[in-house]
Amino acid sequence: MLIMTSSTLDSSKQQQYPVAVPLVTQPWGIWRTLQAVRRNVLSIIPEIATRQPIVSGKMVRRWHMVMDPDALRQILLENLSNYPKSEVTKNLLEPAIGESLFIAEGDQWRWQRRTAAPVFSSRNVQNLAPVMSKAADRCANRIADMAGKRAINLHDEMITTTFDVIADVTFSGDGSFQRDRVHAAIEAYIAQAAKVSVFDILAFPNWFPRPARLVSELSLKETKSIADKVINERRLQKPSGVPDLLDLLLVGEDPKTSRKMNTAELRENLLTFIVAGHETTALSLSWALYLCAFNLEVQDRARHEVQSVLGADRTASAADVEKLPFIRQIIDEALRLYPPAGMISRTALADDVLCGRKIRPGDMIILPIYALHRNHLLWRDPDAFRPDRFTDRKSVRRYAYLPFGDGPRICIGASFALQEAIIILATLLARFRFSLVAGRNPEPIMILTLRPSGGVWLTAEPDP
Ligand code: HEM
Repeated sequence: MLIMTSSTLDSSKQQQYPVAVPLVTQPWGIWRTLQAVRRNVLSIIPEIATRQPIVSGKMVRRWHMVMDPDALRQILLENLSNYPKSEVTKNLLEPAIGESLFIAEGDQWRWQRRTAAPVFSSRNVQNLAPVMSKAADRCANRIADMAGKRAINLHDEMITTTFDVIADVTFSGDGSFQRDRVHAAIEAYIAQAAKVSVFDILAFPNWFPRPARLVSELSLKETKSIADKVINERRLQKPSGVPDLLDLLLVGEDPKTSRKMNTAELRENLLTFIVAGHETTALSLSWALYLCAFNLEVQDRARHEVQSVLGADRTASAADVEKLPFIRQIIDEALRLYPPAGMISRTALADDVLCGRKIRPGDMIILPIYALHRNHLLWRDPDAFRPDRFTDRKSVRRYAYLPFGDGPRICIGASFALQEAIIILATLLARFRFSLVAGRNPEPIMILTLRPSGGVWLTAEPDP
């Protein structure tokens, strides 16, 4: 039986604090838990997980939610090989992204990570900034067309904008027909990856049929064949201009074994970058915009910074990123309050001890990043939106803040995502004032990622 609780924020707190997931305080049975998981994975986190270093229980098998930085370091770094990604993670993602970097373990993971790491070097990421600036500019122009007239769902806008970026740096074909087909296929692909079934959550093996999966087999197949075509065409082209992620991965090789990725491996990893990187970056921006509209003082301070760096009506570029520390702090704080990967999990292989508690082989280890980032032992007034927490990064305790994970399996695209988020947020704040729309607050719901259910509806006024 899982320990469950329910504490809703009272109305005065609601005005003072941005939206949060109501965590639960009453024990629930298995079916209620499963239903809750399907609607919002985070709603099964017991409220005490924001006050304790570890919470354990049993549902089908033993589980432990870990919020203690030292124990998290043990899981993600010191005793990494004892904690492979859980069956749940694999069941969810494998049909979509195969044995790619995100899912593979051991040697299969190691050689792919070594091969892909240089692709995300700071020079390569900076070289891709113009793609991000162009997408930010297009987004600002779309918002300008709607500004002052009606409420805008900024979450939809962020999804479109980050999709523009990731599609341009992966499978961008030459002709517009090819481009549209690639986009449509990728969209179908992402929708497939986000289909969570109860069988996945209960860690049923992958051969067990999931109804939703059967329906989308076809679109998966089409995506794969389109992706393979783009890869094979690119192989024959002479390199021109700034290399994108596909170009870089095509020439990449494992420095240890000289092994290169074949077409299927390239395709699986590029699709992984899209699935792991597109929506997560859009979410960090959507939540950051919501928070800026929630706290106008912060928004004004951010706009002041941006306008003093960019001047009026300019689009942010790679060179500006370093000069926008407050924008970065807003993104950091948005990732703390609403981490897109709000919960990750592992399976223990052998006996271990975490926070003085015995861990047995087969135990499920849950890393509830959402609860870690709101844990009262680690953060002062954790539900409050305060970008100044990140003024001095060194004061943030390592392993207490894990929006990108940590250790050898830390997100490979973190600097790509941060650069993109800073460029887009700065460009938008330079040009518009955003305000909340009464009665249309987003609801934080985590299915595969922590999304603003209902959208982020804001009004935008051009800043004179
Ligand atoms: C704000 C945006 C992002 C967030 C919050 C995020 C979060 C994460 C987290 C938490 C992990 C570790 C998962 C675990 O340990 O179980 C991860 C891994 C990963 N991410 Fe990201 N990510 C973001 C953007 C990106 C981007 C832009 C890309 C690629 C273009 C990317 C590609 C990957 C890959 C390939 C892995 C697996 C790395 C490995 O296991 O070696 N992510 N991400």
